[in-house]
Amino acid sequence: MLIKTAEFIISNSDVSKCPKDPIPEYAFIGRSNVGKSSLINMLTNHKSLAKTSGKPGKTQLINHFLINKNWFLVDLPGYGYARVSKTAKKKFQKFITNYFEQRQQLVSAFVLVDIRHEPQKIDMEFMEYLGEQGIPFSIIFTKADKLKPKAIERNVEDYTKEMLNVWEEMPPYFITSSSKTIGRDEVLNFIQDTNTEINSLRNQ
Ligand code: GTP
Ligand code: MG
Repeated sequence: MLIKTAEFIISNSDVSKCPKDPIPEYAFIGRSNVGKSSLINMLTNHKSLAKTSGKPGKTQLINHFLINKNWFLVDLPGYGYARVSKTAKKKFQKFITNYFEQRQQLVSAFVLVDIRHEPQKIDMEFMEYLGEQGIPFSIIFTKADKLKPKAIERNVEDYTKEMLNVWEEMPPYFITSSSKTIGRDEVLNFIQDTNTEINSLRNQ
């Protein structure tokens, strides 16, 4: 899919204040520092559309980006960031869960995990939560530039094994690097196919 336009629309911490447009949207979620905001910049071909940082805890709000004037990408704060206070963490969690539970336009979530790490409890739990909510999701492995191809293969295999302890099948997954622009077409094609599917269902 060609990205013709990518515009920042609004940031907020209240799902009821998110844009009202009845268009499909895709949310990026995962631990702080996993590369959610960098991935949005890579996908949209913009250096700093979404704000990134070497320090975890950069994204603190629900951020809507309008793509090609007909769908949204949503950048969210990370979960599992130890250095924000417990109260702040709870508040994050509440507005993030409100977002996932109330946002009608949400079509699919992307759960980002760092390809270098073995499966983390917090990610597995978040995916189970999405399953309970009936929210479709895919996994995006990030920072693939940090590993050699053999190690990537081994880690994805290990991750799949762990997932199959809980799930009947592995969800769709993508191997990406924002710094080396790996996996861009695959993620964008997935979104395009999903958008096409939604439009054909709507027109039935
Ligand atoms: P929060 O907003 O704090 O939740 O973090 P985030 O998940 O949005 O992460 P962000 O995109 O801000 O990136 C965190 C750090 O990881 C930054 O220093 C990025 O430059 C780095 N990073 C992100 N993606 C990649 C990647 O594909 N490869 C490498 N090597 N570094 C990356
Ligand atoms: Mg961020």
